Amino acid sequence: MTIRTVATTPFEGQKPGTSGLRKKVRAFQQPHYLENFVQAIFDSIGDVAGKTLVVGGDGRYYNRVAIQTILKMAAGNGFAKVMVGRGGILSTPAASCVIRKYRTFGGIILSASHNPGGPSEDFGIKYNIPAGGPAPEGVTEAIHARSTILREYRIAEAADVDLDSLGNRSLAGMAVEVFDPVADYAELMRSLFDFDAIRAAFAGGLRMKFDAMHAVTGPYATAILEGLLGAPAGTVMNGVPLEDFGGGHPDPNLVHAHDLVEALTGPDAPDFGAASDGDGDRNMVLGRDFYVTPSDSLAVLAANATLCPGYAGGLKGIARSMPTSQAPDRVAEALGIPCYETPTGWKFFGTLLDAGLATLCGEESFGTGSDHVREKDGLWAVLMWLNVLAARREPVADIVRAHWARFGRNVYSRHDYEGIDSAAANGLMEHLRGLKLVGTSLGGSPVALHDDFAYTDPVDGSVSTRQGIRIVFSDGSRIVYRLSGTGTEGATLRVYIERFEPDPAKQDLDPQVALADLIGIAREVAAIVARTGRTEPSVIT
Ligand code: G1P
Ligand code: ZN
Repeated sequence: MTIRTVATTPFEGQKPGTSGLRKKVRAFQQPHYLENFVQAIFDSIGDVAGKTLVVGGDGRYYNRVAIQTILKMAAGNGFAKVMVGRGGILSTPAASCVIRKYRTFGGIILSASHNPGGPSEDFGIKYNIPAGGPAPEGVTEAIHARSTILREYRIAEAADVDLDSLGNRSLAGMAVEVFDPVADYAELMRSLFDFDAIRAAFAGGLRMKFDAMHAVTGPYATAILEGLLGAPAGTVMNGVPLEDFGGGHPDPNLVHAHDLVEALTGPDAPDFGAASDGDGDRNMVLGRDFYVTPSDSLAVLAANATLCPGYAGGLKGIARSMPTSQAPDRVAEALGIPCYETPTGWKFFGTLLDAGLATLCGEESFGTGSDHVREKDGLWAVLMWLNVLAARREPVADIVRAHWARFGRNVYSRHDYEGIDSAAANGLMEHLRGLKLVGTSLGGSPVALHDDFAYTDPVDGSVSTRQGIRIVFSDGSRIVYRLSGTGTEGATLRVYIERFEPDPAKQDLDPQVALADLIGIAREVAAIVARTGRTEPSVIT
């Protein structure tokens, strides 16, 4: 079998963002583009000879083409074996599970998460380390640095591998194992949650809808919810993964998961609704006519964790990203455990989970997870909710309202301005950085803190700066601004607004109403309309 060394020249901009390298499919289709990046990964992660790699993706357009290239390059670079999910399918949390379980030399995940898929849409690739989590910044920086000087890559000349039937095959002397992408993950879920109680709840009439959004969780949700847990057929909606996600935007929020929102509205709606994103790591949770914010979801799950067998011994700590609301902090305080505040991006949770400092973690961006893997995990969050619902036998809305009554409510909203001009976005952030707000008042509220969030990892000491502008008022209310690191077109400005409301009589207001004054301040301070030309956000969550 021939291993070819192919001469190439570096591409600009192969710099992984919040979650890997994301570009338009057409960028990846340029000759040598994907190959260069894969070679940069292999050159940066240490000696790959004789090692095993996990490969899979969310099934979007270009997934299969990319996997064939990666398999041939893995062979060309001396890997002993690649484990690939059947059909090229592997959710991000399942990839993390498999990497950890089989102690592989990490894995390559092909996904652009919640971004649309298709020939003119997005594609992405990222490397996860042997612990199962996204590569830390040191590694992604090394990959980028390597990509700028790379002159050749190595690839085996071989026929494409059959990805659609389970089994072991060989590619240029390298073993390829096509495995069931659901089995190991389902087994892990069964070890954490009370499947008997959930099965009994479904048998007793608990009604649920799960919207897989034609993305990767379809097969997982169908096998676990309808198969192992006995939920009626039809519980899973949009369950067949499609290369273009059916033309939709596989992002589980109130705007994009409209089928689910509609299904959960009205007196006859099911008791529980949930959705996951393109690659299965995000989740949205709904009750009948009731939306649970991701920040509240993390707090409620933390407060109820001991109802689940896998967490019956209690939590070591909670971690949340900085822009996530401070609701989990209140639970941590009540439980007498630490709450860590990290920059945006799941990679920052890895060291805390590895060191046993935190058990649950989450982000406001529909990400929730625990130390069972090193990625956020959509279906895991849904199963944890189901376990809590099966144990408490109360409606979702009642559980959340009781939570607010006990801990207070962190009223919260995020406003996204998508696809704005990059120069305007950078100018806006520079403007915010340059203001001197401490000691002044905005809308009558004194500003107690104004900074650009910086983080020192308590485990490895690594420092990350410029992680978002915070304006914190003396009553604890906050406005946070940051630019997205996952977009592929122009810039996306995210504005996060939060206020604490201890009074149960005032907790049921619509956040857009309850936060109206802070939202106005946020727009004015940043001069959003003048600088971006946008009078309204594109998405409000
Ligand atoms: C977004 C979310 C962030 C999440 C990331 C990957 O990143 O805000 O919390 O970790 O997607 O799912 P952003 O586009 O804001 O950089
Ligand atoms: Zn995702």
